[in-house]
Amino acid sequence: MLAHEIKNPLSGIRGAAQLLETAVVDEDRALTRLICDETDRIVSLVDRMEVFSDERPVDRVPLNIHSVLDHVKAVAKAGFARNIKISENYDPSLPQVFANRDQLVQVFLNLIKNAAEAVGDRPEGEIILTTAYRPGIKLSVAGTREKVSLPLEFCVHDNGPGVPSDLLPHLFDPFITTKTNGSGLGLALVAKIIGAHGGIVECDSQSQRTTFRVLMPASKGANEYDDTSRP
Ligand SMILES: Nc1ncnc2c1ncn2[C@@H]1O[C@H](COP(=O)(O)OP(=O)(O)OP(=O)(O)O)[C@@H](O)[C@H]1O
Ligand SMILES: [Mg+2]
Repeated sequence: MLAHEIKNPLSGIRGAAQLLETAVVDEDRALTRLICDETDRIVSLVDRMEVFSDERPVDRVPLNIHSVLDHVKAVAKAGFARNIKISENYDPSLPQVFANRDQLVQVFLNLIKNAAEAVGDRPEGEIILTTAYRPGIKLSVAGTREKVSLPLEFCVHDNGPGVPSDLLPHLFDPFITTKTNGSGLGLALVAKIIGAHGGIVECDSQSQRTTFRVLMPASKGANEYDDTSRP
């Protein structure tokens, strides 16, 4: 409701600025553009914030994570990671993950975008995507003796300068950013989506070696891990 109440007057402000744009002298046009650009920025911030308060269950299906990662890689290579080497080391016999495809695409876009921004234009910069099956990883459920298994591991590694150590304890909180134009919502969204899927995300960062690791439960009903296809 609040989002709606914010976006309504903004669209009025934007419309008025657009009308003014045709009437003002050239040097003032930069100001009407600024009004439009900044209102657009608030709308997109509100849109991103809306996702956090959305508690509706999402549609999930068994997915091949490699098709998700390959799609995100193609998007990255066509845009923000045009000049960055992205390689992969996949476990081809990994079972499917039970997830919402659009949300997983969003997760890995955010992680790969951060990695690309960390690597910047260093010539030796590289991003590596890895997947693995880790049957030993179990998570205790708070207040119970139950343990859930999170055997699917998807990682985004980069060789950028690493996450500043003072940031690490708050890394997944909203509005934590070191970037001039960053909203600091990327990783908060990653944590929210992965948490809603019953998984966890963690970061291990040193200079030249930063890893964001997503651990997820295996898809219910998906084929068990196929040991015979391992070398
Ligand atoms: N791979 C990485 N290497 C180094 N620092 C990172 C990496 N990923 C994230 N960070 C640090 O964590 C901060 C928060 O990241 P997050 O994605 O939440 O927000 P952002 O990238 O600053 O803004 P936005 O994602 O909204 O554009 C970043 O500003 C950066 O300082
Ligand atoms: Mg980001």
